[in-house]
Amino acid sequence: MSGAIGLTTQRRYAAAMLRVLSVLLALAPTAPSQDAAAPPAPSFAFLQHPPRGLPPMPLPTDYTPTAAMFELGQRLFHDGILSADRTVTCSSCHPAVNGFASPLPQPLGVAGRRALRHAPVLWNRGYGTAQRWDGGSRDLETFVLEPIADPNEMHLPLDQAIERLRADADYARAFAAAFAAPPSRATLQRALATFVRGIARGDAGYDRFVGGDADALTPQQRTGLWVFESKGGCWRCHTPPLFTDEAFHNTGVGVRDGSAEPGRAQVTGRRDDTGRWKTPTLRGVASSAPYMHDGSLATLDDVVAFYARGGTANAQLDPRLRPIDLTPGERLALVAFLSSL
Ligand code: HEC
Ligand code: HEC
Repeated sequence: MSGAIGLTTQRRYAAAMLRVLSVLLALAPTAPSQDAAAPPAPSFAFLQHPPRGLPPMPLPTDYTPTAAMFELGQRLFHDGILSADRTVTCSSCHPAVNGFASPLPQPLGVAGRRALRHAPVLWNRGYGTAQRWDGGSRDLETFVLEPIADPNEMHLPLDQAIERLRADADYARAFAAAFAAPPSRATLQRALATFVRGIARGDAGYDRFVGGDADALTPQQRTGLWVFESKGGCWRCHTPPLFTDEAFHNTGVGVRDGSAEPGRAQVTGRRDDTGRWKTPTLRGVASSAPYMHDGSLATLDDVVAFYARGGTANAQLDPRLRPIDLTPGERLALVAFLSSL
């Protein structure tokens, strides 16, 4: 099903791309403009009014998220109460300063245990359905409770987490105000999911450029956009405006001696899915290093060099990955474009 969605998005995008290319061609070089805007703080408003360039956000059908749920979720996200020894918060592994991604390849949970994968960026997860690098969790509400009980992460059985919240007079009041109900599995997941939906990011140089502001990208960034859309072929999986198709692909990250980790196959049991991982968004990517599901690439230069060599060979490598002939200037331009997102 996600494949079908990906295809229509791609067709729509192909048409939009032609328009962008014609704008690019019509442009004479102009003075560079600097995109110094700080990333937006999470906000409940994004659920109703997404940042420029983003489509309306799909919302849950079985409840209506509210500002009170968002604020409660925001508080919980930053509170050690959800971890066994009260030292680990969601934000320990997803710090805002690093695009809500972990600065360590594999972040540390309770008692110095190591999470099994890199903690991904949380920008625009409200647009995604399946969560986790392998899509193993079917939606945001289901997912947000999983790090709490995970022995490598917060290591607190869920019923104990809920007991703690019920015993805390302040939280009991905040849950009553947000849900007219006490802390429970359902109310905890709604509060956390509503906060995560508010972690949205658009309104980049790219969005203003596509909206008609020719100066919103520097000439170098425009060259990078051209590489992204032409010989780089990046848009096929990192499809604008979300810069992800929310689908799973084998690019060869994590392949050792020709053999890939299971990846998506762990969820579906299909051999073809071996080594496939979910395409992450590229929004805010300049400030969320290191990269990939194992955090194995330290910089965007490393990422571009990885794609220029065509990924890492293995039996299920996506046919779209082939060595790309990029000049040093084009590599720099691609990094400059990625940094504009
Ligand atoms: C110990 C570090 C750690 C903690 C604490 C942690 N996370 Fe994560 N988070 C991760 C890792 C690692 C992944 C990737 C998991 C996977 O792919 O299996 C992840 C994935 C996610 C995702 C899915 C993103 C995507 O693109 O699929 C969301 C959403 C998320 N975390 C939110 C939270 C919330 C909310 C909390 C607190 C309740 C939390 N995390 C606590 C490490 C952590
Ligand atoms: C066939 C689909 C596909 C194509 C084409 C593709 N990517 Fe990716 N990209 C992915 C997937 C899947 C991942 C995650 C891989 C992993 O973690 O194992 C990824 C990860 C990334 C990341 C890391 C983001 C993060 O938060 O960790 C960057 C940056 C990136 N790609 C940039 C590019 C650029 C630039 C191009 C074009 C040169 C490109 N991609 C082409 C599918 C693709």
